[in-house]
Amino acid sequence: MSEIYEKLEKAYNAVRSRTDLVPEIALVLGSGLGAFADERVDNAVSVPYSEIEGFPTSTVPGHKGRFVFGTVGGVKVAVMQGRVHYYEGYSMTDVVMPARLLSMLGAKVLFLTNASGGINPDFGAGDFMLIRDHIASFVPNPLIGANIEQLGTRFPDMSNVYDNGLCDVIKKSAAELGVELKEGVYAQLTGPSFETPAEIRMLGKLGADAVGMSTAVEAIAARHCGMLVCGISCVANQAAGISKTPLTHDEVQETANQAAPRFKALISEAVEDISDYISTVQHV
Ligand code: HPA
Repeated sequence: MSEIYEKLEKAYNAVRSRTDLVPEIALVLGSGLGAFADERVDNAVSVPYSEIEGFPTSTVPGHKGRFVFGTVGGVKVAVMQGRVHYYEGYSMTDVVMPARLLSMLGAKVLFLTNASGGINPDFGAGDFMLIRDHIASFVPNPLIGANIEQLGTRFPDMSNVYDNGLCDVIKKSAAELGVELKEGVYAQLTGPSFETPAEIRMLGKLGADAVGMSTAVEAIAARHCGMLVCGISCVANQAAGISKTPLTHDEVQETANQAAPRFKALISEAVEDISDYISTVQHV
């Protein structure tokens, strides 16, 4: 059996020794967005990543580094309060281990969130962007290496990564709440340095609307193992060259904090609406 799969099974057993909750929806909370897990998850059981054997732990300020299992509006969820990034020095295999584990725990949907830099000139700090597609060509593919047959096929299709049906549901949730939701393509770069203005101009020409240092590889791994994926990016700043001021992680966190009330409301509503939606579709 593949070493990666064995590691996943150990992590699965470690989580199962703490909770038998089978999540319907898994959520990954990005930079500055972690408060959702503290405030909106009922009957919460938290499991720090550091207590899961072989699990990568987050080193980034603003990322707490634990799973919170519980319910949101009665829907069973597993929430990642903080994720790990490639720039922290982990292999891509480790970066996507949580997404795979969430699938093994039973989650049918992976709902990804992040903070990003806005490239689309119509985007301002604090805007939310529904992720419609991604560009992952600047980071190593997380599926490189022997294919893990237990998880999925060697050459998975990526033509509908951010499920159109889930996108429609989230758009309706946002409209019901009166929360403005932009849409666009997210480009993942490795970081940790922010981009140069020339890189941002290049990404804009390639069709990216927002840029960040996470998410796309998690989405690839989740599609590989058959999860439905959706995502919302909080535009924390205008990207380099568009913004007139130097970029800082503090600014990213501050904007995300300010956006938090709208974000929490939108995610809660979307989780309930997605649960209703997936109970009506055949293919999950
Ligand atoms: N670039 C990359 N990642 C980011 C940015 C950015 O401008 N803002 C928040 N995450």
